[in-house]
Amino acid sequence: MSTVVCPGSFDPLTYGHVDIVRRAAQLFDNVIVCVAHNPNKQGFFTVVERLEILQEEFSDIPNVTSDSFAGLLVDYCTNVEACAVVKGIRSNQDYEYELPMAHVNKQLSGIDTIFLPTSPELSFISSSVVKEVVRFGGDASGLVPPIVLKKLLKRL
Ligand code: PNS
Repeated sequence: MSTVVCPGSFDPLTYGHVDIVRRAAQLFDNVIVCVAHNPNKQGFFTVVERLEILQEEFSDIPNVTSDSFAGLLVDYCTNVEACAVVKGIRSNQDYEYELPMAHVNKQLSGIDTIFLPTSPELSFISSSVVKEVVRFGGDASGLVPPIVLKKLLKRL
């Protein structure tokens, strides 16, 4: 059984993330979408809220589960016996940001990182852009799933 971890802040989950998770679920037996808990960073949504969103969004895919972790990603991956980390890559910038992390994770634990190119039509979406659009009253319905939009609008 191949288990992979899709880690991230998911603050909030976007259609770009959804694309990567759904495609990973077609490639691997189990996909754990894992929210990184960063105690030094005040998130827009709490980790619990982000987990609620993940659970609802992926409830139709039996081999996708959600979880959270604090500390090193590789320790979490070892605990769940993951064979790889899966990350979406939207651009060269993403690649340059992700590559050193993939190398560190490999060096620390031997785990490989698999980069999936984000579908081109979604590659401009980021969680920060979503928050900005919503903050200034723009329509984010093409950027995030309905459950996220509902929670964003409620919060603002
Ligand atoms: O969605 P993001 O913010 O790009 O996700 C980055 C994340 C959370 C996956 C990455 O920062 C991470 O793995 N953090 C946990 C600490 C860790 O293991 N860092 C890598 C070695 S420096």
